Amino acid sequence: MTQPFSEQSLSIASEPPIILGITGSVAAYKAAELARLWVKSGRAVDVVMTENACRFVTPLTMQALSGRPVCQDLWRASEDGMRHISLSRSAAAIVVAPTSADFLARLAQGRADDLLAALCLARECPLFVAPAMNRQMWFNPATQRNVAQLVADGVTLLGPDYGEMACGESGEGRMLSPQAIVDAVVRWLRNASSASAILARRRVLITAGPTFETIDAVRGLTNRSSGKMGFALADAAARAGADVTLVAGPVNQPTPMGVARIDVTSAAQMADAVFSRAEQTDVFIGVAAVADFTPTNIIDDKIKKDKNEILTLTLAPTVDILDELGRRAPHIFRVGFAAETQNLAQFGEEKRRRKKLPLLIVNHAAEAFSSDENEVLLLDDHGQHPLPKMSKRALATRLIEEIAQRIDS
Ligand SMILES: Cc1cc2nc3c(=O)[nH]c(=O)nc-3n(C[C@H](O)[C@H](O)[C@H](O)COP(=O)(O)O)c2cc1C
Repeated sequence: MTQPFSEQSLSIASEPPIILGITGSVAAYKAAELARLWVKSGRAVDVVMTENACRFVTPLTMQALSGRPVCQDLWRASEDGMRHISLSRSAAAIVVAPTSADFLARLAQGRADDLLAALCLARECPLFVAPAMNRQMWFNPATQRNVAQLVADGVTLLGPDYGEMACGESGEGRMLSPQAIVDAVVRWLRNASSASAILARRRVLITAGPTFETIDAVRGLTNRSSGKMGFALADAAARAGADVTLVAGPVNQPTPMGVARIDVTSAAQMADAVFSRAEQTDVFIGVAAVADFTPTNIIDDKIKKDKNEILTLTLAPTVDILDELGRRAPHIFRVGFAAETQNLAQFGEEKRRRKKLPLLIVNHAAEAFSSDENEVLLLDDHGQHPLPKMSKRALATRLIEEIAQRIDS
């Protein structure tokens, strides 16, 4: 017979466990099937329930199905005393299914007022949410704002589905089926772990942001690159276990954890920073929007305005970092980015061939520079591979997987 709320753990699998979070939705009964499917697939499941989830399904049911103690209380003493942190350290992922509208709001705000919310905030592993709610709740602008924030923060959204609901209405808001949730999480973990296996300890050098070409003491030439895509890629590569160095132009972005950052200003400085590390680099990802031209002479003082005079700037081409790196260090796997405003596939493919790149990622300049989302086209020797629009963080994870696959092939 199972011991309700037993603190004894019954380990059933060698793979790291999944934390199954359950919140107060009428779909909570489906979490029982979800736990059963995980266990059947050979994964251990640690169930963590909110207080309101326990009104819909009993911890006893979840303990019986998972074969492990169910955690509910942030304040309950545990052996290590810090369960809100320690529980997620050994987990492969946290999957909150169902996720209530209220829990989405708490997650988006970064609250930590119960065990599940605290675990999500303190996690190091990926977080998946499977919303389940009435369609009006789902389409309410507040919920949509919270979901957009969570996706921008790197949380993976599973569903919701379309169909009949417990409230008698039908529409979008139903929880995805337990099998679809398991399949999506397994696929995600498999891709992430194969990227990690390939990239572990590889030395990845990434450039990000714009460059600034000085004209005089106060003016310069630059562009609208925010650096978000390059920083997200550096973060994703570091999470995949790579040894990452990020050469950043003038941007206002926090340095991702575990990434070595080198700040530069001009295209020439960026080129120097890259070339000086060529010998210690296995993979180069050129995301920076490097100036193509730079003033031929820099004026030390501020140029004075003369309303009767037309000022002429003389510009010289800068060094092409991707091209030159290919010549200097042919051992490096080089990935290029191209921002175009028209004929994306054609101009991208011309650039890829010119620079002899195994992979070029082309995107629309307007979106690439300003938005938190991006839609890209991958170009390689096998043709064109479009990816759907997604947050730059989600895209970075996907691109690191795509790069890893091509390194391995
Ligand atoms: C019968 C009943 C069914 C509910 N179903 C849902 C639901 O499907 N989705 C949802 O977001 N909230 C639902 N709620 C509201 C949540 O339970 C409520 O917002 C609660 O505070 C969520 O708590 P939790 O997120 O901490 O678990 C329901 C409430 C009741 C009384």
